[in-house]
Amino acid sequence: MWEYTDKVNDHFKNPRNVGAVENPDGDGLAGSLACGDALRLTFKLDGEKKICEAKFQTFGCASAIASSSALTVMLIGKTIEEAEQITNKEIIEYLGDLPKQKVHCSVMGREALEAAIYNYRTGKTLDRKIDGEVV
Ligand code: FES
Ligand code: FES
Repeated sequence: MWEYTDKVNDHFKNPRNVGAVENPDGDGLAGSLACGDALRLTFKLDGEKKICEAKFQTFGCASAIASSSALTVMLIGKTIEEAEQITNKEIIEYLGDLPKQKVHCSVMGREALEAAIYNYRTGKTLDRKIDGEVV
């Protein structure tokens, strides 16, 4: 049986940055059509346009919690340009590894980040459904 890495366990049991940032500069939502799980990511920028706060809320599973927690940690201190270059692979590398069937859960964090950056740039809301459909 596949075992979660220590880092996944740690971020699942003690998730970092849970909740929603107050008066966020970016606010994004992503969801999976397959199972109805959803994830919201909010961030705030400091005077140098670097992310100083990033938080997430999710109805997702352990892998979604761990990978969103990891993503928020990775985001802090980054500019928007740097943040949008974070790949799903990097999130998984940060965690050590994820079971293959759980990779889509980490994609949700990446999608919510994309939606939050879109919201920051345009002031509009982008609700993304992972499985391809943008609503
Ligand atoms: Fe829904 Fe994993 S089964 S996101
Ligand atoms: Fe639904 Fe992982 S978020 S199974």
